Amino acid sequence: MEALQKSLQSLSLGLPIPQVPLTEVLLNPLDLIRAYLAQILADIVNCEIENASKSIQWPNNIFNGDLAVILPRLRPGAKAEALALELMEKFPKDHPLFILPFLEGVHFRVFVRPEAVPRLFLQYILDREDSYGSASSSGRSSASNGQKKLVVEFSSPNITSEFQGKHLRSTIIGAFIGRLYESTGWDVTRINYLGDWGKPIALLRVGWSKYGSEEAYEADPVGHLLEVYHKIEEDFKPEQDASRQARDDVAKEGKDEGEAQVEIESRGIFAERNDAFKNLEDGEEDTAAFWKRVRDVNIDNYTKFYERLGVRFDDYSGESQVSPEVMVEVEQMLKDKNLSEESGGAWIIHMQNVGAKAGTAIIRDRSGSSTYLLRDLAAVLERSRKYSFDKMIYVVASDNSVHFTQLFKILEALDLEDLTGKLQHVRFSEVSKMAATLGKGYKPQAILDKCAEAISGLPEVDSDKVAVMGDLGQMVEPLATSALIVQELSSRSATVHNFDTSALASFKLGSGLDLQYWISKLYLLLKGATPTAELADEDYEALAEEDQTNLLRILAQYPEVINVTYHSLEPSGIVTYLASVTEQLSECFGENGEDEAVTPGMAALYEATRIVLENGMKLLGLTPVAHL
Ligand code: ARG
Repeated sequence: MEALQKSLQSLSLGLPIPQVPLTEVLLNPLDLIRAYLAQILADIVNCEIENASKSIQWPNNIFNGDLAVILPRLRPGAKAEALALELMEKFPKDHPLFILPFLEGVHFRVFVRPEAVPRLFLQYILDREDSYGSASSSGRSSASNGQKKLVVEFSSPNITSEFQGKHLRSTIIGAFIGRLYESTGWDVTRINYLGDWGKPIALLRVGWSKYGSEEAYEADPVGHLLEVYHKIEEDFKPEQDASRQARDDVAKEGKDEGEAQVEIESRGIFAERNDAFKNLEDGEEDTAAFWKRVRDVNIDNYTKFYERLGVRFDDYSGESQVSPEVMVEVEQMLKDKNLSEESGGAWIIHMQNVGAKAGTAIIRDRSGSSTYLLRDLAAVLERSRKYSFDKMIYVVASDNSVHFTQLFKILEALDLEDLTGKLQHVRFSEVSKMAATLGKGYKPQAILDKCAEAISGLPEVDSDKVAVMGDLGQMVEPLATSALIVQELSSRSATVHNFDTSALASFKLGSGLDLQYWISKLYLLLKGATPTAELADEDYEALAEEDQTNLLRILAQYPEVINVTYHSLEPSGIVTYLASVTEQLSECFGENGEDEAVTPGMAALYEATRIVLENGMKLLGLTPVAHL
């Protein structure tokens, strides 16, 4: 605070800083200038500073100003032009912070004076260092009752099949959301909800008795299990097709008894699988031991993979871990409220009864087995009891959207709105074509191996840049994960994109490697320097050039970018932002300026840039190779 007051005084700005509710002048430099602007506006139009502040927006792009005033919000009903004229006339002419704003549409565009930019922002960023952009008060409870609790569920692969593109994306987005919430002060619990129960496990059991080999398992447990699963799936396919056909015939002929279907499903692999599932749910010894073995060996394998990606979980939960008692409790609640009913031996919910437009949801199937939905309903109750969370986020691909809509609707109908309000499904489009790239039966490690392979070709792309970063041999793994993580996070969640390693070995703007290159370069430039923002007047003046002030104005936006992302949960905004930092940083090197000695002013600017890049990279899940 003291350092901040000093820089404000050096700019001859009035103190104390105007007080505006909901602004965080000590965490967000844009809030600081917002407070001063709000004061000016409030004085001119004669309103509360809080209202004036609400009319101020962040234009997102420095070419549109550092702040923008939305005129209709400042004085509702007023004509934009008349109001703009009045503002222009009364706006202080030589304000130490702002140049005279101008009108564009309904926006009044506000720019900070170039000569004020270095004095205002450099010290601010250097003082905050690692915490710059984090520790906003979003995660703190309004009362003094400590941190808010977030449960974030992500990755959640199915143990009988390959780790798919959608699980990779969930892993990367989920880990990011965990870090983002943590950095804003939340207490975060990370759950991996494995698909480790249900019919597929039972089918694997059937497959094992036919194709399982202890020897092959010993050599490559996860690989062998996948192979067994694919074989039995193949055998099972004709029966499944026949069953589907029978069901469709029934639907066409309008009969309501699917006798043919029941008949098909009472024989062959269908029957074996159902028996195996019943054994599993009854806890039959052999089946339980088989299941445990499969689960453990997969968790072990996932953990190694996640470690390479820098991801960890507090709890490997899963469908198998949901308590049967809580499921019964949920069923009872549903019955008590007349929401579920029996139908052909199964228990179902007509979704119209719970306020949805249409559809039916199955809670227990004909054989008495719990369904995916029932398990999830019970899991919500269990987690809320175990963690008393303030919020729970499910990071799951859009293929689960109907499921989550049903889940939330049913909870609401059970009068658990209190709980429903805390739940959020963060969906994203699936990454597909993973199997096409990696071949059937691949293990999750193969994903990272493929990326590393692409990175090995990097010297052919740009050997100078590789040299700046260091010895490639040591860097392959962190560069591969950086490239992959940024690729996964750089498109908006709803955008379809495929797993593709062909573009990974590239330094293009906004790529993981571009970030790694620039941060390495900054570390090189700063070697031996002790950057400080206590600069001589001439150093400050030298920084008032357009390229330098533009870079600083972008750096000043970082906490605001984090704020916006905290609300949208769209990591692509951060990737785009960091690209604008490296782009503007490259502008700050003159024609052959790279070899010039680094002045104290430039050292401070580089350090501020390093802080922002490094904080942003760490938030995305990247480890700067400069630290190797
Ligand atoms: N295992 C599921 C799948 O692969 C994702 C699990 C999502 N989480 C949940 N609570 N249903 O599609």
